[in-house]
Amino acid sequence: MVPPPGDLTVPLWSRPQDADRTFVVIREGITRTAMTGWPAFSDRQTWELVAYIESLDHGA
Ligand code: HEM
Repeated sequence: MVPPPGDLTVPLWSRPQDADRTFVVIREGITRTAMTGWPAFSDRQTWELVAYIESLDHGA
């Protein structure tokens, strides 16, 4: 897959640092990549995904 999916376990500096931006990435996707948006998730579900993704950061 080009580009490959981001490694969500690497430290925050190498991926969106901002929870609001991560929310938008999940909701709307990233154009011209395989990362489609996930608009079917409610706001609450999407924030839960943001929190889960942030919990994967072993560098924090
Ligand atoms: C609900 C499920 C998913 C969530 C919550 C999610 C979340 C994310 C997030 C937060 C990023 C940004 C990472 C970064 O910037 O380093 C990302 C990137 C990406 N995701 Fe997903 N993702 C999901 C499912 C998928 C699936 C199923 C695919 C492939 C079919 C995919 C392909 C990608 C790709 C290719 C990127 C990198 C785009 C780029 O380089 O700009 N994602 N994803």
